[in-house]
Amino acid sequence: MTAPLPPLTEIPQDLVSLSDYETRAKDHMSSDVYAYIYGGGGDEITLRRNREALDAILITPKILVDVTDGHTHTVIGQDTFRHPILLAPVAFQKLVHPSGELGTIEAVNLLETGMVVSTLATETLETMADQLETPKWFQLYFQQDRGFTLDIVKRAEKAGYTALVITIDAPLHGIRNRAQRAGFVLPDGMEAVNLVDRPPLPSKSLPPEHSVIFQGMMSETPTWADMKWIRSQTDLPIYLKGILSTEDALQAAEFKMDGIIVSNHGGRVLDCVPSAIEVLPEIREALGPDYPILIDGGIVRGTDVFKAIALGANAVLIGRPQLYALAVAGSLGVAHMLRLLREELEVTMALAGTPTLKDISKHAIIPLS
Ligand code: FNR
Ligand code: LAC
Repeated sequence: MTAPLPPLTEIPQDLVSLSDYETRAKDHMSSDVYAYIYGGGGDEITLRRNREALDAILITPKILVDVTDGHTHTVIGQDTFRHPILLAPVAFQKLVHPSGELGTIEAVNLLETGMVVSTLATETLETMADQLETPKWFQLYFQQDRGFTLDIVKRAEKAGYTALVITIDAPLHGIRNRAQRAGFVLPDGMEAVNLVDRPPLPSKSLPPEHSVIFQGMMSETPTWADMKWIRSQTDLPIYLKGILSTEDALQAAEFKMDGIIVSNHGGRVLDCVPSAIEVLPEIREALGPDYPILIDGGIVRGTDVFKAIALGANAVLIGRPQLYALAVAGSLGVAHMLRLLREELEVTMALAGTPTLKDISKHAIIPLS
């Protein structure tokens, strides 16, 4: 096994798309880290489907439209974004580059891109808030100790985050066979620094008739009652990330959540679930035109962003490409990757005759049959 190449200091000419970053990233990280990042759950049926479902949608362009007043600005809740592309919360960024989350933030500031900071970051949430110049959203993983969970929320409020994204689709890691086969374990020193003060878990021995999963690992994971509780504890807008059904989407709205992120966690948790883009139209229909809905999973092209907007998303998030770009060329790579995606979206909108996001209606695409 050859050692990973160091990050590049300039962008080579043949690096022109997000999938080029994915290909290159293999050379800039060890194979077990690549397997952890790239990999999905189980047989990766959902991971593949995220791409296949996007590829199956076609765009219907309108010709001879004046797009000279075109732009991609959008407002979601209380925040204004230059373009409808946010960085998804992605853990442990120092795994791929020593600058970690701060490298990503440098790029985000340059490209005026919103970022959702992960609970499992390798920088403190205060340091990241301090550096971020764009809308700051904080992703929360509920911790077993509810008091400690609330402490994190209060820290996020104090640090100036403008929204909480609560991820509810990964109470367990899922079956990560690709990462397991590659022997991935978090290297020593790679730490979720925001959780260092976490109270030790009470030791508990299960009687033999109990299941390690149901009565063990799942015994302290959040339920709708916890969503009600957290809603009563903070005035920050809350987005629930990881919704895939219309029923759950309606429930989120009923529980006074400010928005949802339709997502299957990049196909990394429960395998065989649908892709976000497939369930989006029905969820948008049920929630009406004004409820904030973001989606993620497999987005690597401006045309993908366009399709998501056409089917009712307010914005998209991108996960893996930020780590691939960070590994290949640090913050320069992330900035270049974001610029590519933003320009692709603008090119798509210009060629499709849709100068603003509001012009991208479902008539702009031929949906999945
Ligand atoms: C993630 N994701 C994730 N989600 C979350 O809510 N908190 C987290 O800490 C992480 N960490 C994380 C690490 C890595 C290595 C990956 C690849 C993903 C999921 C992420 O936010 C997003 O939902 C998916 O990555 C979107 O799919 P794509 O863009 O990677 O296809
Ligand atoms: C993952 C966790 C960190 O997807 O959310 O690996």
